[in-house]
Amino acid sequence: MRVGVLVSGAGSNLQALIEACARPGFPAEIAVVACNRAEAPALGRAESAGIAVCIADRARTPSRTERQQCLLHALQQQHVELVVLAGFDEILVPAFLAAFTGRIINTHPSLLPAFGGTMHAVAQAVEHGVKVSGCTIHLVTADLDNGPILFQHCVEVREDDDVASLHDRIREQEHRLLPAAVQAFAEGRVRVEGRRARVLASKDT
Ligand code: GRF
Repeated sequence: MRVGVLVSGAGSNLQALIEACARPGFPAEIAVVACNRAEAPALGRAESAGIAVCIADRARTPSRTERQQCLLHALQQQHVELVVLAGFDEILVPAFLAAFTGRIINTHPSLLPAFGGTMHAVAQAVEHGVKVSGCTIHLVTADLDNGPILFQHCVEVREDDDVASLHDRIREQEHRLLPAAVQAFAEGRVRVEGRRARVLASKDT
């Protein structure tokens, strides 16, 4: 399955996907990495892996609609079948959502629905004093951070955690679960029933 990955930042989740796609038998390949920040370190990861990149920089193209139109065009040109938001820091515009309805996966660094709808989920979890947080891999719908959940994993919040240390341990789980979600989707093991998603077991497990 041809995957387009949208990124804005460090790209550690992109790296996890690049490594997963290199595993023999993995049922997906990254056709293009699309980015809205020209300085994002994620771009270097894509280039090192020889993956095509498309950049619609926020500074040069201030309109979100125009930026996403450009990124969407690149994905369509590459015949992308599944979009993965791997640290993409924009809400998708309706035209983008419509072009890939039911075929967009996001990773969010909290146990949704807690701390949804924000780019500061990890900081809010620390400030709130929760004892567990985690990550959620979910399908994207027009309802922000509220689409059917594919995978979640809890991460304990330690007394001495700060935002960075907690986010590091959350990322470790995202790096495992995001490729697993892409694999499940590519193998046709995702069933959506209303707002719930069921991920069928792989033949290999
Ligand atoms: C991830 O924790 C993701 O959940 C959030 O932003 C972070 C991106 O990290 N939306 P990276 O750029 O993949 O390292």
